[in-house]
Amino acid sequence: MDDKQRILSLRAELHRYNYLYYVKNSPVISDQQFDEMMHELQRLEALHPEMADPNSPTQRVGSDLSHEFVQVTHRYPMLSLANTYNRGDVADFYRRIEDGLGGGPFDICCELKFDGLSISITYEQGHLVRAVTRGNGLQGDDVTANVRTIRSIPLQLGEGDWPEQFEVRGEVLMPWDSFEALNRQRAEREEPLFANPRNAASGTLKSKSSSVVAERKLDAYFYYLLGEDLPSQFHYQNIEKLGQWGFKVSRNMALAHSVDDVMAYIDRWDKERSHLPVATDGIVLKVNSLAQQERLGMTAKNPRWAIAYKFKAERARTLLKDVVFQVGRTGAVTPVAEMEPVLLAGTVVKRASLHNQDIMEGLDLHYGDYVYVEKAGEIIPQIVGVDTDARTVFLGDRVKFITTCPECGAKLVRYEGEAASYCPNDVGCPPQIKGRIEHFISRDAMDIESLGPETINEYYQRGLIKDVADLYHLTVSQLCGADGSRLKSAQKVIDGIQRSKSNSFGRSLYALGIRFVGKVAANTLAKHFRTIDHLMQAPLEELMAVNGIGKTIAESIIHYFHEERNLDILRRLREAGVNFEEQASQAPQSDVLAGQAIVISGVFDHHSREEYKQIIEDNGGRNVSSISSKTNFILAGHNMGPSKLDKANKLGIRIVSEDEFLDMIGEDGQA
Ligand code: IVH
Repeated sequence: MDDKQRILSLRAELHRYNYLYYVKNSPVISDQQFDEMMHELQRLEALHPEMADPNSPTQRVGSDLSHEFVQVTHRYPMLSLANTYNRGDVADFYRRIEDGLGGGPFDICCELKFDGLSISITYEQGHLVRAVTRGNGLQGDDVTANVRTIRSIPLQLGEGDWPEQFEVRGEVLMPWDSFEALNRQRAEREEPLFANPRNAASGTLKSKSSSVVAERKLDAYFYYLLGEDLPSQFHYQNIEKLGQWGFKVSRNMALAHSVDDVMAYIDRWDKERSHLPVATDGIVLKVNSLAQQERLGMTAKNPRWAIAYKFKAERARTLLKDVVFQVGRTGAVTPVAEMEPVLLAGTVVKRASLHNQDIMEGLDLHYGDYVYVEKAGEIIPQIVGVDTDARTVFLGDRVKFITTCPECGAKLVRYEGEAASYCPNDVGCPPQIKGRIEHFISRDAMDIESLGPETINEYYQRGLIKDVADLYHLTVSQLCGADGSRLKSAQKVIDGIQRSKSNSFGRSLYALGIRFVGKVAANTLAKHFRTIDHLMQAPLEELMAVNGIGKTIAESIIHYFHEERNLDILRRLREAGVNFEEQASQAPQSDVLAGQAIVISGVFDHHSREEYKQIIEDNGGRNVSSISSKTNFILAGHNMGPSKLDKANKLGIRIVSEDEFLDMIGEDGQA
């Protein structure tokens, strides 16, 4: 078997063991065997980057080492906890503690088990100096730059009785609302969705660009304090201290004095956790006294003084009726399972995305199968497996992925390294044509409220529109009935379309639907190039030199403007009067900053960094990138880097907050 075959077979096996472990709760191999296979797969994948697959088991579990980050050794290893799904095991744990402590009194600290990725952060003299992921427990990735962008993590502590040096451990999370917003945005761009907030948080924290991290609104809760001279000999009290020092800690910790207290805590949070703003997957129980923790010690892998009780994911079983294939705006084909409606976590589920060919085939679905559905997020139901015991001789055929487009018949293509399959017929495939128009009118794009998917469909069916430029030639008489009915709504549609002509350049650019050019990138490009002509003329290097524009986006832009068909649409949009120029800055032009060299640092509330650069220029100042004795002041947002802060302090350079700055230039910061 060559490496490539071995990778595929390891993936398949690990997927199955994963499923048996996490879904069936009946592992058939030991953790050690599992880890060995995982390591082999990681090693082979590292040797064959061309075989990378976002759905590989290595992307889901196991070590989170990656090659983009420097690896550092943990000062104190990051232990994991023994896990159980079983209350009997919790009672056993309690009894073992009683025995281990020779019957003396003890308290158990009950906590929520946050479902994100663990992080260990070192503070020295009250400054955040390093943040490291768990990795393999002994070594992890140095993700300090990314962690610094998480606003709830203190970079520098205020007055307090914190030790000179300590480590805090906690969980980096993506709150439900940010997760849902992110997935909505990704769905709109036809990018693969994150299955749950944990994957989203982990994908984000491992991002090579910390600006992506900053945009995505991560959060962190802290639950463990380590160091030489801790404020208290009790865990609970130490966590309270963390809270006082400015760390986010859970308000829902509780001390239990009996096994009944522990069970009551579990019961309570199994229900109430659905109201929490972040994902939790269980309860962590810890002996509260550090001296008692020490007495109990460790097994080979885990501390004896703690255990994690995991909640069972809500799961339902139902009949798979059919699998349909949907074609999106970019031509991406998504398999969607249609099921007998079933109640799951309070809502009726009857459809579930199967994401792509590999995921679908990995499930080995047959028509007529009974499948298990889980809700990964609060919103997205997923098929996690098949009830193979329920299969009978009447079982239907295996569900196969299609080879031709269900809408236009074109042969599907799958690009190297991509999970999705595409219909390449972008000119003639109806859902792609309609999808592009729907994107064009959508809220973040041209925001033509008077139009919606149904009206677009109707106009398309009637042959009135076949691309976005046609919208601007629609007339009231075309849209109202032959007898003059629907006159009012027709007029409203036309008015809405006309109004959209004066949208900002950023919106018009986003509305074109250039692949990978999202809202943020479109605005950045609009501000930078100011007119579409400048943008169209920019070579690859110039595009890539723009902050936040990487190779993928840059290449996609070049590709877009090379297509004759796109140029034609653009020409007709411009003839119709759609705005493709950045209007002069709204900020009052002045010379209040004349001659001043200004460094921008941190993350801001009211404008982006790009906008601040423009505002500085508009007011006569000069934006410089590094601090020197010639710097006049630093415009500092949140999370300004501590090294910059040190340097500024040493050179005695003034630090100006965002609000002060807006005052200076006469803009109301509350806008
Ligand atoms: S305590 C030695 N407390 O669950 C104790 N862990 O295997 C170290 N987690 O890797 C962990 N919430 O990522 C602890 N309240 C909590 C937690 C928690 C989530 C995670 C953590 C750890 C895993 C346990």
